[in-house]
Order: sequence, then C-alpha cells, then structure tokens
Amino acid sequence: MAINFSSLTILALSATLFLQISIATAQLSTNHYSTSCPRALFTIKAGVLKAVAKERRMAASLLRLHFHDCFVNGCDASVLLDDTSSFTGEKTAGPNNNSLRGFEVIDSIKSELESLCPGVVSCADILAVSARDSVAAVGGPFWAVPLGRRDSTTASLDAANTDIPSPVMDLSDLISAFSNKGFSAKEMVALSGAHTIGQARCVVFRDRIYNESNIFASFATSLKSNCPSSGSDDSLSPIDATTPGSFDNSYFKNLVSNKGLMHSDQQLFSGASTDSQVTAYTNNPAAFFADFASAMIRMGNLSPLTGSSGEIRSNCRKIN
Ligand code: HEM
Ligand SMILES: *[C@@H]1O[C@H](CO)[C@@H](O)[C@H](O)[C@H]1NC(C)=O
Ligand SMILES: *[C@@H]1O[C@H](CO)[C@@H](O)[C@H](O)[C@H]1NC(C)=O
Repeated sequence: MAINFSSLTILALSATLFLQISIATAQLSTNHYSTSCPRALFTIKAGVLKAVAKERRMAASLLRLHFHDCFVNGCDASVLLDDTSSFTGEKTAGPNNNSLRGFEVIDSIKSELESLCPGVVSCADILAVSARDSVAAVGGPFWAVPLGRRDSTTASLDAANTDIPSPVMDLSDLISAFSNKGFSAKEMVALSGAHTIGQARCVVFRDRIYNESNIFASFATSLKSNCPSSGSDDSLSPIDATTPGSFDNSYFKNLVSNKGLMHSDQQLFSGASTDSQVTAYTNNPAAFFADFASAMIRMGNLSPLTGSSGEIRSNCRKIN
C-alpha cells in the first residue's frame, strides 16, 4: 500500500496531538484572563510583592499554600475554605493546623480582583500565580502559569491528613507520596527544593536534632536553644539556615553537609537513590531552577476543575 499522507491524515494527526496536549494541560491556558480580566496577573503580583516586602517569609507561606491545595484532590482552593458549624474544611488537618499561613494575603488580592473583574478570577488560580510570584520575588525562577482553574464547593479533611507528606517519612514513603500524585523521584527532589525558603516549628524537627546521628553536630547544637527537648513546640527555625530568605540551591548544599532540618529533608541525601540528584543540584543551580519550574507547572495541573465544574468563589473562605 502506498503511503499517502493526505491533508486529511495530517489534519487527523494534528487533531489527535491537539487533544493530547489539551488533556495534558487539562484545558488550562496561560492567557485565560487576557480578555476577561487583563489586569489580573499584575494585580496578583502587586499584592504578593507588597506582602513579601512587609514580611519576607510570606513568599514561603504562599508557596506552601499552593502545594497543600494541589495535593488534596487537586488545585481547587479547597485549602482556603473555613470551617463552619455545618462544614469541615482542611485547615485543622495535621499538616495545616497552626502551620499554614498567608490566608489574609489571598483575601486581600481576591477582594481587589472582585472590584476589578467581579466573579472572574478563581481562588485556585490566585494561589497558583501567588506561588509563582513568591518564588520569583525572592530570587527563584519564573514560569508562565497555566490558568482557568475553578474553585471547589467541597474540601476533604481526611485527604489532607493522608495525601500531604509528613516530615517523619522515610525516603520510600516520600517517593510514594509523590508518585501517588504522578511525580517521579526526581520531581520530588526538585519540588522539595522549596524548602530553600521559609521556617519550621520545633515540633516538626525536635526528634531529629536530639536523636538522629546523621546530622552535623554543631548544626544540631545550634538549634537546641530555640527548640528545647520539651516545650516551645511552635518556636521557629529557618529550614535553610544558610540563606533563609533567598530561593537558591543552598537547601541541597545543606543536605550534602548533613544539615537538613527535618528528617524528611535529610532523607533525600541519606546514602540512597536520590543522593545523586541532590548532588547534581548543588553543582547546577540552573538545572534545579528549570526542574523546579516544570514540576511546579505539573503540580499546578493536578485535577483542576474546569468548564462548568465548581464555581468562581466571591470570597475564597466560603462557597458562594
Ligand atoms: C517532600 C515532602 C515535604 C514534606 C514532608 C514537607 C513538610 C513540611 C513541614 C513539616 C514544614 C514546616 C511546617 C511547620 O513548621 O508548621 C514545611 C514548610 C514548608 N514547606 Fe514543605 N514539605 C514537603 C514538600 C514541600 C513542597 C513540595 C513544597 C512546595 C513546592 C513545600 C513548601 C514548603 C515551604 C515554602 C515551607 C515554609 C513555609 C513557611 O515558612 O510558612 N514543601 N514543609
Ligand atoms: C488545632 O490547633 C488548636 C490550637 O492549638 C488546637 O486547640 C486544636 O485541638 C487543633 N486541632 C486539631 C484537629 O488538631
Ligand atoms: C528520643 O528518642 C527516645 C527513644 O525513642 C524518646 O523517648 C525521646 O522522646 C526522643 N527525644 C526527643 C527530643 O524526641
């Protein structure tokens, strides 16, 4: 049979390709608001820059909000819903309670957007763009964020408790927690580089600094005054003690020196399969930035609500 690539065949092939790309990006597009709310991205960026100028840690807190949103039934702003007498949200889940922050910054951006373009910009998209602008504001990479997510009308406390990885996990469980969401071990390592900014409470790393042996001795000692063996659960230490306010590759350099703050951090460099990736990022910050940006786009694409699913909340804390 003669092979004849008729224009019809090519059309069919490109239609298939288009379909695959559409599925892969789940109907999100970087220009989603370009006609419906042209100032949306500028407004979010200005709100993030203002908040980060006021308190640099806010960049870390906003980045983490997007992660804790996406890992729990997809990026649908479920993490932002407040508990009410008849509704239980995710805010009191173990990984979130007394820990997640930045809600007021999202509220303030949302209220500006509601004045500008009422009912148009979703809370889930605000989280995704705020995470990107936060990273860029403190020296990290920049990427185009696919947009068009809608907001959930539900939340899941149980899923927040089971799907967000814990700081006491060993490497194999960290790899599984991310592979459950479609990520490779390499992507897990890249995304963990988010811990190059922000702080953690004593309660999440106490056991490591008092009881683990694969920790640089003077590093452990230096943390103990602010994190006694009992009490002071909420006192904070930077996760990357070297450059806590900058998004760079020093998180990975710390791991190679056994200066990971949490058990889960040090697991990435503990004589096992991910050591080589950690070492690669210590030598090549550009590779870390590129891999982090791609993995963030993939994280942002986790099960978004699109089309007529969900809603555009007018207040991120409650369903319409
Ligand atoms: C690999 C598995 C991960 C574990 C076990 C983990 C665990 C934690 C824990 C326990 C804290 C401190 C919470 C507290 O003290 O209340 C924290 C902070 C943080 N996490 Fe993770 N995390 C992981 C991955 C990620 C990812 C993928 C991101 C983002 C892409 C991220 C971003 C952050 C940031 C920025 C902070 C600091 C937040 C702040 O200062 O407000 N983490 N993480
Ligand atoms: C959340 O934290 C508050 C304040 O520390 C505490 O009273 C409450 O019991 C915690 N909730 C859960 C579900 O752990
Ligand atoms: C260290 O480990 C011991 C034995 O498991 C435990 O009893 C103790 O509470 C741990 N110390 C800290 C500070 O976590």
